[in-house]
Amino acid sequence: MPKRKAQKDGWYSRVFAWALPKIAGKHSQLIEPWKIKLFSSLRGTVLEIGPGSGANLRYFPAGIRLIGIEPNPYMHPQLLKEAERFGVRVELHTGVSEDLPVEPASVDAVVSSLVLCSVTDLEKTLAETLRVLRPGGKFVFVEHVGAKRGSLLRLEQDLVRPLWKVVGDGCNPNRDVLEAIEKAGFARVEAESFSVPGPVVSPHLAGVAYKAG
Ligand SMILES: C[S@@+](CC[C@H](N)C(=O)[O-])C[C@H]1O[C@@H](n2cnc3c(N)ncnc32)[C@H](O)[C@@H]1O
Repeated sequence: MPKRKAQKDGWYSRVFAWALPKIAGKHSQLIEPWKIKLFSSLRGTVLEIGPGSGANLRYFPAGIRLIGIEPNPYMHPQLLKEAERFGVRVELHTGVSEDLPVEPASVDAVVSSLVLCSVTDLEKTLAETLRVLRPGGKFVFVEHVGAKRGSLLRLEQDLVRPLWKVVGDGCNPNRDVLEAIEKAGFARVEAESFSVPGPVVSPHLAGVAYKAG
């Protein structure tokens, strides 16, 4: 089997790294309440998949140790600036969520925001998340997900997906993320669905999935 590419390079990745903080502005404000609620309880070693340019660093409590796994190296400088600004100790890797470069059962929490839509292999990402979490550790997520099957919005998401994926850096707006998390093997999943105004990228899902203790 060919090895999964762990680095996103080329002009598109460079442009996306530049554009992400600009595109994200309003949407970030709308999902902020869920980030504040869920991220404030993080402790110890936290691994974030796809941290991008560091949008979440402002919400992380002081004292955590962050391991970031971000395949787009053009995002790294901005992320490191944010880490310095908010006093977060970070160890940053160019890599992918399907192949995490850390030992089994070595982190207290895994964080993901607006990433599960664009990972290449969602099941492998969740399996890796479980592998690296310590017993009793938690997976904390704030994501946009596919609308209810059979709804008009889901039809729109299904139709627009091929183009959306190209312009949105691999984003699939129609993924059944909750179903995948529930099937992945966590001991308990607590999640709530919410909507924010805007086309295609809705509904959202925020919650915590616990590894058996
Ligand atoms: C929409 S951005 C979200 C960034 C950040 N989490 C946020 O909330 O602003 C998606 C991020 O996921 C990253 N990504 C895409 N595929 C990935 C993968 N397989 N593993 C880890 N990160 C990935 C992208 O490079 C990008 O930084």
